[in-house]
Amino acid sequence: MLKNKKVVYFCQECGYESSKWMGQCPGCKAWNTFVEETVSTKKTSSSGSRTMAQGLKPEPVKLKDIRISEDERRLTKIGELDRVLGGGIVPGSLVLVGGDPGIGKSTLLLQVCRNLALSGNSVLYISGEESLRQIRLRANRIGEFNENLQIFCETNLETIREVIERKKPDMVVIDSIQTMFHEDISSAPGSVSQVRESTNILMQIAKGLGISIFIVGHVTKEGNVAGPRVLEHMVDTVLYFEGDRHASYRILRAVKNRFGSTNEIGVFEMRGTGLEEVKNPSEFMLNGKPNGTSGSIVACSMEGTRPILVEIQALVCQSNFGIPRRTAVGTDFNRVNLLMAVLEKKVGIHLASCDAYVNIAGGMKMTEPAIDLGISLAVVSSCKDIVIPDSVLAFGEVGLSGEVRAVSMAAQRVSEAKKLGFTTVILPKVCQSSMEKTEGMNLVYVEWIQDAIRYIMKG
Ligand SMILES: Nc1ncnc2c1ncn2[C@@H]1O[C@H](COP(=O)(O)OP(=O)(O)OP(=O)(O)O)[C@@H](O)[C@H]1O
Ligand SMILES: [Mg+2]
Repeated sequence: MLKNKKVVYFCQECGYESSKWMGQCPGCKAWNTFVEETVSTKKTSSSGSRTMAQGLKPEPVKLKDIRISEDERRLTKIGELDRVLGGGIVPGSLVLVGGDPGIGKSTLLLQVCRNLALSGNSVLYISGEESLRQIRLRANRIGEFNENLQIFCETNLETIREVIERKKPDMVVIDSIQTMFHEDISSAPGSVSQVRESTNILMQIAKGLGISIFIVGHVTKEGNVAGPRVLEHMVDTVLYFEGDRHASYRILRAVKNRFGSTNEIGVFEMRGTGLEEVKNPSEFMLNGKPNGTSGSIVACSMEGTRPILVEIQALVCQSNFGIPRRTAVGTDFNRVNLLMAVLEKKVGIHLASCDAYVNIAGGMKMTEPAIDLGISLAVVSSCKDIVIPDSVLAFGEVGLSGEVRAVSMAAQRVSEAKKLGFTTVILPKVCQSSMEKTEGMNLVYVEWIQDAIRYIMKG
């Protein structure tokens, strides 16, 4: 064994480090995930020691002396992405984009490169996964490109560093971090130490030269970015692409963002010409809603600053087994069980011997408590076979005593409902003080879940 090198074992799922091999990872409880890797114990230079090496005295600066300009952020011209990023790309930021295979990560980033190149920025797209011809094929699908975009197929990070330092582009895309490797580390590309070291080098480049770098990361079976957890700590922004394999739309969600809110989502649709923005997701989600059937109601959930309307479907039927079956698709299973228990105990609807299936139509995942009232009404509607009129929308959180609790931004939700042609909104009574009269809308304020049920039963 060479001096300055030591052998350690890393869990490939979560990055847990151990000096000996173990069958089960104490960190993430996964089995057979430890892999031997050789790491260097030599101290790598930090930016501080580099300053020293250049003969400069390390000196802190006054906060008020740091100059920034107003138009710091670069717009990608893809409105949905700009919003998720918090208003454009911050120079010198490191953004990690994760998502299932084939969801459209490379497509989106190539579109970003195209738009930035068209607005005069120099852009470098580095791919370790695809050949130049394959990238060209995708580019043909997306549209016209200008000469500001350069493509480079390489996986060696030292070569990449040298090219970036020479070309000094405004933006760099690394597709993907799992294919990159550094010669000093003997383990295979994609292993924990390689991914960590590669990201570290990219972070130094981004911060040192003020270049925005987008990194594509593969995800594990559980949907987390493959490799060490520290990866998410090292980057400034983590974006996840999610979506149903069978649906054409994709949702981009910020999980971490040092320069903006993490609540915002961007909705895209995969088309032949690349990812297209969906400007009005509610309309898109309500497409294909059946009319005049029981067990269906539209609810409203806030995703960041934007209200999104979704159809909630429930199917309640007599159970043939001792233990009733309960399923929740697109929402929290435990929440559905809780709401059904409230209906059983507080309203007196017998659900204990019923199977229940709750589904958020369109494959979207919603966890905001504001959809509680919608779920409860859909369950009651299916159980009692009552058709809720298509013009009715409901939102509100349901508490354990059956009370309907306040939700934020009620006025925005009502105005979105109005925009989409709804005429009746069932909402919490506590929101009444913050609401003004809305022209042409019938606002039904409810204090208890029973009030809402009485309203829909009345027809
Ligand atoms: N001609 C086409 N028309 C419509 N959609 C297409 C077309 N060609 C490719 N696609 C879509 O693009 C997706 C591939 O996108 P992309 O290569 O950007 O995904 P990715 O997330 O980068 O995948 P990977 O993880 O494999 O790199 C395909 O799954 C397919 O849905
Ligand atoms: Mg790709």
